[in-house]
Amino acid sequence: MEAVNDYISQNKERFLNELMELLKVPSVSADPKFAADVNKTAELVADNLRKAGAENIEICKTAGYPIVYGDKIIDNSLPTILVYGHYDVQPADPIELWTNPAFEPIIKKTEIHPEGAIFARGACDDKGQMFMHVKAFEAMNKNNSLPCNVKFMIEGEEEVGSENLGVFVKNNHERLKADVILVSDTGMLANDVPSITTGLRGLSYVEVEVTGPNRDLHSGLYGGCVANPINSLAKMIASLHDANNHITIPGFYDKVIDLTDEERAEMAKAPFSKEAYCKALNINDVLGEEGYSTMERGSIRPTLDVNGIWGGYTGDGAKTVIASKAYAKISMRLVPDQDPAEITKLFVDHFESIAPAGTTVKVTPHHGGEPAVTPIDSIGYQAASLAYEKTFNKKPIPVRSGGSIPIVAMFEKELGLKTVLMGFGLDSDAIHSPNEHYGVFNYFKGIETIPYFYKFYTELSQS
Ligand code: BES
Ligand code: MN
Ligand code: MN
Repeated sequence: MEAVNDYISQNKERFLNELMELLKVPSVSADPKFAADVNKTAELVADNLRKAGAENIEICKTAGYPIVYGDKIIDNSLPTILVYGHYDVQPADPIELWTNPAFEPIIKKTEIHPEGAIFARGACDDKGQMFMHVKAFEAMNKNNSLPCNVKFMIEGEEEVGSENLGVFVKNNHERLKADVILVSDTGMLANDVPSITTGLRGLSYVEVEVTGPNRDLHSGLYGGCVANPINSLAKMIASLHDANNHITIPGFYDKVIDLTDEERAEMAKAPFSKEAYCKALNINDVLGEEGYSTMERGSIRPTLDVNGIWGGYTGDGAKTVIASKAYAKISMRLVPDQDPAEITKLFVDHFESIAPAGTTVKVTPHHGGEPAVTPIDSIGYQAASLAYEKTFNKKPIPVRSGGSIPIVAMFEKELGLKTVLMGFGLDSDAIHSPNEHYGVFNYFKGIETIPYFYKFYTELSQS
């Protein structure tokens, strides 16, 4: 491994510059305006894989954005690691809140990243983390140090629900044959508290439309006489939580698997400072479901949140009007064994049932995703744990995350493979927010740690 580590040290500047180039292309999958850039990013990923020495590279067409495939098979009798990542990013909006343009990457020091962090949309989620795998592979491959086979599958639609990836996986069982899936698209607790993600929440996402009168009305002539859809929507949304912040949709918690007291006690060992948490967000207190800690509320408990709400007059000045319609987008984060389709159905039935007189409700489901938990007694987890221990000099803590990567459950169903979530981001890296960034330390730590995963995974598989 010495040659690999030397190679990494000698190529740091180039590894950083190549990531910066990738970050300059606005591969926003949600907005058709960026289609050419998303496709160009796929080409760039393929070029980088080729330069790293991967073979059988293909930019696989789908009904949406392409999936980049590449591999290096050194010996069929050795284990195969399938690396998954995504090259698409979230929209940069609201762009006026970026202190530096989202697609003009720049390195700046922060309190948490004294060695500097790369500021750009996708720096952490997921271009920076995905790219660590390309570079780690390059370092292993160029030094003839690959202990196993490696396959890459990098998609361009993760941020919009990965619909076409499902089709691709179904049609490519043979090509994707592997022993384990390796993903860096999550986070860790802190740069001096390494952790490995052992669970992800699922997702049910709906859009609601409440309609009152057939047209906008003068609020003096009609106010007080008919249902105001915005008032009604606000009331309906407010009623979805009770005074203890439990969700009121009948049946919502029926399939939730509660953690045992031992598991909760284990979780509580992870360091958490409420003061630091509040300070970082500039809030005077936390708020959430009664009976659970902040860590629990954000990982092992299901939630319901309004992501956007609109209707009526929002321009300058005052316009006295009762709008005909009001809208909201609502996400529900799910935990094992909640089923996204079932939860969506429970939501629809409930939401329709609470519509006040004089209104009609339409609910449109968006993409969903299943929750996932990964075992800590697997070879994959143990190899990851040893790898972190090697590069951080500390044994990583297993933690369940609140985010969602729906394809993890899909991989297990379709390919029968478990995923190892080796994330190197921090919650404070502002993914999906303005000023997203990724620590230079984290980028290189990832590049150094991944080769050890290859090594330990291969050794543990053979012992
Ligand atoms: N990488 C994130 C998910 C994530 C981030 C998991 C941090 C754990 C820790 C992923 O790109 C993402 O944003 N997923 C979406 C869901 C998807 C269906 C749009 C999410 O969690 O909102
Ligand atoms: Mn991601
Ligand atoms: Mn994301």
